[in-house]
Amino acid sequence: MNKLLTTFLICLCLCTIIKGQVCEKGRQSYLFKTFVMSCKNIRDQFPNTTSVASSISCENCDIPTFTEDVVVTFNGGIFDVSNSHIKNITENAFKNFGNAVQKLIFANNQISYIAPHVFDKFNNLEDLNLHNNSLSNVLPGVFENLTIGVFDLSNNNISDVTNFIRKIKVRKLDLSNNKLTQISINMFNDTSFWVASPYRAIFHELNIGNNQIESIQPGSFKFGDGNSLRVLYLQNNKITVILNNTFSLQNELKNLILNSNQINSLETDSFNNLPKLIMLDLAKNKLATLPFGVFSKLGNLETLNLESNQLSKLDPSLFSGLVRLNRLHLAHNKLTQFSPTTIFPLGKLTYLDVSDNRLRELDLKAIYSHQTRLSTLIINDNFWSCSKLVAMYKVMNAKWGGFHDPAKHFDVPNLHGIACSRVELDYDENLTFAEFMNIISQDRVFEDIYDSRINGDAETTQVSLDHLYIQITGMFWMFLSITIMCTVFFVHFVIVTVKSNKIIANKLNFSYSRAQDENVQLM
Ligand SMILES: *[C@@H]1O[C@H](CO)[C@@H](O)[C@H](O)[C@H]1NC(C)=O
Ligand SMILES: *[C@@H]1O[C@H](CO)[C@@H](O)[C@H](O)[C@H]1NC(C)=O
Ligand SMILES: *[C@@H]1O[C@H](CO)[C@@H](O)[C@H](O)[C@H]1NC(C)=O
Ligand SMILES: *[C@@H]1O[C@H](CO)[C@@H](O)[C@H](O)[C@H]1NC(C)=O
Ligand SMILES: *[C@@H]1O[C@H](CO)[C@@H](O)[C@H](O)[C@H]1NC(C)=O
Ligand SMILES: *[C@@H]1O[C@H](CO)[C@@H](O)[C@H](O)[C@H]1NC(C)=O
Ligand SMILES: *[C@@H]1O[C@H](CO)[C@@H](O)[C@H](O)[C@H]1NC(C)=O
Ligand SMILES: *[C@@H]1O[C@H](CO)[C@@H](O)[C@H](O)[C@H]1NC(C)=O
Repeated sequence: MNKLLTTFLICLCLCTIIKGQVCEKGRQSYLFKTFVMSCKNIRDQFPNTTSVASSISCENCDIPTFTEDVVVTFNGGIFDVSNSHIKNITENAFKNFGNAVQKLIFANNQISYIAPHVFDKFNNLEDLNLHNNSLSNVLPGVFENLTIGVFDLSNNNISDVTNFIRKIKVRKLDLSNNKLTQISINMFNDTSFWVASPYRAIFHELNIGNNQIESIQPGSFKFGDGNSLRVLYLQNNKITVILNNTFSLQNELKNLILNSNQINSLETDSFNNLPKLIMLDLAKNKLATLPFGVFSKLGNLETLNLESNQLSKLDPSLFSGLVRLNRLHLAHNKLTQFSPTTIFPLGKLTYLDVSDNRLRELDLKAIYSHQTRLSTLIINDNFWSCSKLVAMYKVMNAKWGGFHDPAKHFDVPNLHGIACSRVELDYDENLTFAEFMNIISQDRVFEDIYDSRINGDAETTQVSLDHLYIQITGMFWMFLSITIMCTVFFVHFVIVTVKSNKIIANKLNFSYSRAQDENVQLM
C-alpha cells in the first residue's frame, strides 16, 4: 500500500513538472559551449538560464503581453515564440536581447500592436516572421530603416502597407493573405530589395498573392533603390486587366505568377520590357482572346501556362518570338481548332497540353515533323471521333509509345481511356465535354475500341503486331492473376460455407444490379 502511494506521488510530481513551466537543454555545441533550449508552458518569464542558449523556442506558451521582463538575458541567434498567444509587443521588449539575433519568429500569435523602434537594435535580422497575426496597421517607425532577409507578414489583416514597408530593405517580402485591394504607383517607392551575397538562393521575391487586388497601376513596381524583382507572385487576387507596361521596370524578373485572377483583357504591351522572364503563369483566368504580339518580346520564356481560360482560337502568329519556349499549357479552354502552324515558331517545345478543349482534328504528322523535341503531347478530353483517334494513336505510338495521360474514360467508347464518338457527330459550337460524354455514353457497347479499328495498312502493321504482342503478354498475366484470385476466392468461399454451413444468397444478383445502376447514371 505504501509502495503504491509512493509511486503515485512520484507520478504526480513528474506530471506536474512536465505540465509546468519547463525548459529543456537540447543539443550542445562543444566548440562554443552553447545549447538549444526548448521550453513549454511559459507564462510570464523564461528561466534565467537563457543567457547562454544559442536559440530558444517555446511551445504552448502563454504570454499575452511581451515585455522586457519576459526574457532576462538572451545572446543567441534564434528566438521562436510561435503559438504563444501574444497580443502586444511593448516598448523595450527586446531590451535584454543581444544584437546577434538572426531570427525572430512570432508566427501564429494574435499580435495587433507593436511599439515603435522595438526592432531598432537588430541590424542583422535574417528572418522576421510575423505570419498569421492580427496586424492591420502599425505606428510609423516600427519597421522603418530595418534591414531584413525574409520579412513574413503573411496572413494578417493589412490593407495599407505604408508603415510596414517604408524605408525597409528586404530580400524576400511576403504580404500574401492580407487585405490589399490595389497596387498604386508609389506603394513600393521607399522599399528596397537587396542581395546579401550572390550565392543566396532567396532574393528579390515579392509575394502579394491571396489578397483582393483589383487593379495595378502601370509602373507600380518601382523600388527605392531602383532594383528589380526576380519573382513576383500575384495569384488569387481579383485582377481583371493587365495594362501596357505594368511590369516595365522589372528587367530582372524571372517568374511572374498571375494565376487564379479574373483577367479578361491583355494589351499588346502588357508584358513589355521583361527580357529575362522564363515563366509566365496565366492559368485560371478569363482570357477569351489574346491581342496580337502580346508574347512576342518574351524571347527567354520557357514556360507559358494558359490553362483554364476561355480561349476559343489562337492567332497563327500568337507565339512568334517565343524561341525558347519548351512548355505550353493550353488545357481546359474552348479551342475548336488547333493549327500546327501556330506552334511552328516554338522550336524548343517539349511539352504541349491541349486536353479538355473542343478539338475534333489535330494534324499530328505536321506537328511532329516540325516539333522534333516534342516528347509529351496530351490530347484527352476533346471531341475526337474514334477513327481519328486511332489514326492519331498510330502516329503517337510510332513516335513515343502511345498516349501521354493516365487514361480515365473507360465507361464510354474509348481508346485506352480517351473518350471518342463512334460516328462523326454534328456539333453545336457551344457543346461542352460533359454533353459530348453524355451523347457518346448512350452507345451501349462500352469497350476499348482499339482492336476493332486497327486494320493493317502497310505502314502500321509492325506497330499493331508489336502492340498485339504486348496485349498477348498482358493477357497472359491477367489470366494468371485471375486464376489465382479465383482459386483463393473459391477456397475462402468453401471454408466460409463449410464453417457457417450456409450459402450467402444473392451475391451475384447484387453485383448485377449495381452494374445496371451505373449504366443508368451514365445516361
Ligand atoms: C541572470 O543571470 C545572470 C548571469 O547568468 C546574472 O548576472 C543576473 O543577475 C541574473 N538575473 C536575474 C534576474 O536573476
Ligand atoms: C500594450 O501593453 C502596454 C503595456 O502593458 C500598454 O501600455 C498598451 O496600452 C498596450 N497596447 C495595446 C494596443 O494593447
Ligand atoms: C494561425 O494561428 C492559429 C493559432 O493562433 C492556428 O490555429 C491556425 O491554424 C494558424 N493558421 C495558419 C494559416 O497558419
Ligand atoms: C531612418 O533613417 C533616416 C536617415 O537615415 C532618419 O532620418 C530617420 O529618422 C530614421 N527613421 C527612424 C524611424 O529611425
Ligand atoms: C481587420 O481590419 C478591419 C479594419 O481594417 C477590422 O474591421 C476587422 O475586424 C479586422 N479583422 C481581424 C480579424 O482582425
Ligand atoms: C514615394 O512616394 C511618396 C508619396 O506617394 C512620397 O512622399 C515619397 O517622397 C516618395 N519617395 C521616394 C523615394 O520617391
Ligand atoms: C497599348 O500598347 C499598344 C502598342 O503599343 C497600343 O497600340 C495600345 O493602344 C496601347 N493601349 C492603351 C490602352 O494605351
Ligand atoms: C453559343 O454561345 C454564344 C454565347 O453564349 C451565343 O452567342 C451563340 O449563339 C451560341 N451558339 C449556338 C450555336 O448556340
